[in-house]
Amino acid sequence: MESSLSREVGPEAAARIESLIAAAEGKRFDPASLDWSVPLDDAAWYMAEEWLPLVGTPEYQRLPPEERRRLSRHEAAAMLGTGVWFENLLINALARHAYNLTVDDPLFRFLLLEVEEECRHSNMFGEFIRRSGTPPYRPSWWLRLQGKGYWLIGSRCVFYLSILGTEEILHGMTDATWKAEATHPALKAMMRLHTIEEQRHMAFAREYLRAVFPRLGLLGRWYARLFVPIVVYTVVQACVDPEVYRTLGIPGGFRAAWQNPRRRARVKKDLARFHAFCASIGMAPPATAPLWRILGLA
Ligand SMILES: [Fe+2]
Ligand SMILES: [Fe+2]
Repeated sequence: MESSLSREVGPEAAARIESLIAAAEGKRFDPASLDWSVPLDDAAWYMAEEWLPLVGTPEYQRLPPEERRRLSRHEAAAMLGTGVWFENLLINALARHAYNLTVDDPLFRFLLLEVEEECRHSNMFGEFIRRSGTPPYRPSWWLRLQGKGYWLIGSRCVFYLSILGTEEILHGMTDATWKAEATHPALKAMMRLHTIEEQRHMAFAREYLRAVFPRLGLLGRWYARLFVPIVVYTVVQACVDPEVYRTLGIPGGFRAAWQNPRRRARVKKDLARFHAFCASIGMAPPATAPLWRILGLA
């Protein structure tokens, strides 16, 4: 009997997704195995320096080395707080997708597996934040309200596209952070685990969207084309937290970080692969280019 996965995405994409599912089931990481014995002090870095929103600005140049590392600890906690917020949104979207499937559908298993992984990620991010000695940063009430709105009016394709865009934004930072020599060992292990599992999530989202997006009606396609860049922009905003600069007493820090040309260029670079993917499935036709440009995404 044809599964609903195969009905939804076609037999070829269904076969590729099934092989992703098989690979995912064979590889699980246990965040409880993380080693927290090295103190979370300011002898180490917590985020690859190039990914600090403030890097390269006069405000950053003025900070002595130890304060730069302290900033990286707070930025990492804020970034992980944003991660917890976004993973919560996406767990909801995945659970709602699973709600429509029967248990014998391979996609049902994959979605629950992804939910399981995101729950573990949020738990380990929370563990870092609780141990890091920083406030429990999270996106502002205004961004959280936007998240709730997306929850109510986002279509399934909008969600998968937003998940992909967000994972691309975070991927550059997590990948560089686990590879950087000076990163604290617990964070290094955490980021490595996250990078590996997220690559699987991104591979699935790409397969799914490649099969489903072109088959949407005109309205559904335009809804996503206009809506997704706005959701991704919300996430970009959530990656620069004014609270960090207030807590650390860096005057003008938020403004400098937000306007930092180096940060802006990096966002575009991180999103280049996502933009190219969107263009390849018809999600970013030339008419949408001004929107991407105005929002600083391309
Ligand atoms: Fe995650
Ligand atoms: Fe993910």
